[in-house]
Amino acid sequence: MCGIVGYVGPEACAPILLDGLRRLEYRGYDSAGLAVHGGAGSIDVRRAVGKLRNLEGALRERPLEGQVGIGHTRWATHGRPSEVNAHPHVAGGIAVVHNGIIENHLEVRRQLLEKGCEILSDTDTELVAHLVHLEVAQGKDIETAVRAVLNTIEGAYAIAVLSVDEPERIVVAKSASPLVIGLAEGETYCASDVPALLPYTRRMVFLEDEEMAVLEAGGARITTLKGEPVERAETQIDWSPVMAEKAGYKHFMLKEIFEQPRALEDTLRGRLDRQNGAIRGEEIGLAPEKAKAIDRVVLLACGTSHHAAMTGRYFIETMARIPTVVELASEFRGRGAVIGEGDLVIAVSQSGETLDTLMAAKEAKAGGATVLAIANVIGSAIPRMADAVFYTHAGPEIGVASTKCFTTQVVNLLMVAAWLGHQRGAMSDEALAELVEDLARMPQLVSDTLKGTRQLVANLARRYVDARDVLFLGRGLSFPIALEGALKLKEISYVHAEGYAAGEMKHGPIALIDSTVPVVVLAPKDSSYERSIGNLEEAKAREAMVIAIGTEGDEKAREVSHDLIEIPEVPEALTPFLTVLPLQLYAYYVADFKGTDVDQPRNLAKTVTVE
Ligand code: AGP
Repeated sequence: MCGIVGYVGPEACAPILLDGLRRLEYRGYDSAGLAVHGGAGSIDVRRAVGKLRNLEGALRERPLEGQVGIGHTRWATHGRPSEVNAHPHVAGGIAVVHNGIIENHLEVRRQLLEKGCEILSDTDTELVAHLVHLEVAQGKDIETAVRAVLNTIEGAYAIAVLSVDEPERIVVAKSASPLVIGLAEGETYCASDVPALLPYTRRMVFLEDEEMAVLEAGGARITTLKGEPVERAETQIDWSPVMAEKAGYKHFMLKEIFEQPRALEDTLRGRLDRQNGAIRGEEIGLAPEKAKAIDRVVLLACGTSHHAAMTGRYFIETMARIPTVVELASEFRGRGAVIGEGDLVIAVSQSGETLDTLMAAKEAKAGGATVLAIANVIGSAIPRMADAVFYTHAGPEIGVASTKCFTTQVVNLLMVAAWLGHQRGAMSDEALAELVEDLARMPQLVSDTLKGTRQLVANLARRYVDARDVLFLGRGLSFPIALEGALKLKEISYVHAEGYAAGEMKHGPIALIDSTVPVVVLAPKDSSYERSIGNLEEAKAREAMVIAIGTEGDEKAREVSHDLIEIPEVPEALTPFLTVLPLQLYAYYVADFKGTDVDQPRNLAKTVTVE
């Protein structure tokens, strides 16, 4: 998730572009850059690593003059944050900014190198600049050149392109990543998102997938990628700038909960080979020989990432049949844990900077283990020290309570488990192909579940807002989800909550239950279903207020609970992606009704870099 912005008009464009990027910084902030038509047949570029203020500094030293330009604030997906990887990327008089992921980038890079192109960065975006340049070199205008290129690349993109030969226009296009065009008298803008443009205009046109547009000072001309003209009505946006940054949601956390279908789609992008029913192993970064040589997997993480790691253990044991342990990174460190060359250590961390996870992974590496990082922030400390990295592509997570990063970590762990299982012969071709199809339809199921459960969950949160204690129970894959439900509620609403393995209830915690305690039981139709129904009955018999999270149309679960939150019926491996959603929403609404600081709860930091 990056931010792009563009301007064509009579004003000096650099301040407008910078202002737009400032309003898009929530989409990414590891580097930034501008490209401006400088007159006299030149495109001038300034780029800087780090926050936008570094780019502002570079512009103070060497200002950019011109009225037509594009800008970018980056959240790295290919290539670590560095000046050479920062956008805009330039090739032979073509400048490109891009938000998204080009799936066939490896193949395109190889073809360009064969043609003798000099590729300077590790990004997929620079490849687009070279491709467009090659088309323009054959005599095509910029619009035709961009159209020709976009018909050959696969993946997600929103791009804005300048050509040194056509200084009065910008060409933009989109597929899967967002792009909005802003219209004003004698000025035309584009941006990844509405907030960037609100100070300048409220007249917006939203580009749809597989569409492109030529922006000139007098307006925008939209066509499909096939070249057919498109008529699109303007939308008048009434949001305040603060609402716009959160896409109309009250808090970043709620926005991020509802971003999960997109985050999952981006994380799966380019990793599923649906044609061959396989997982693309090169994305995981482990050699097939390594997969076969592993004796044991050790998962290391903290907090929510630890709960994701617990689902990973389940996947790896069932799909790859490798002995697996999950460790709290803080407990693993310094206790002299036995670790060796046969161990694959998977360090799971959204930030990639959590000190306990970093130190534990370093200790494991020193002990001879191979370290695979699963992280969301490209180039962060854990990926840097790891032997291999499998990134989640959730985009920046601003709410302290992790939501979209949790589900994307779980999907990466599921892909790792399936790939290991297949490499080792523990998972059949048919089972893998079936899983690949299930994963491909999962983002839509997540979207349906969010929409389908939101109102009921909000009502329940209102009803139980004053409960002093809440219990969450789950078995198997639902156990880490119960822990995650409790953690979410604790951290943002400050309500005491406990997650338990449902089978442990009778060994003590059942004594906590009385008529004042809401008990949430995860009871989807999985291999533990009958026993989970038993837990619902036990809780109800002790007069608890019982909420079941169960499968659509499950009358038995409805009967033995006070309220049933229904999720679509899915294969067992997919249940965590759906059961966790109402728990995230429940925590959110309780906190919102209590009026706590949802996005920045007391005493917590997004990244914990202390012991
Ligand atoms: C989750 O909501 C928390 N804020 C916290 O538990 C977090 O998951 C933990 O600190 C680990 O962070 P990491 O994923 O960046 O390593």
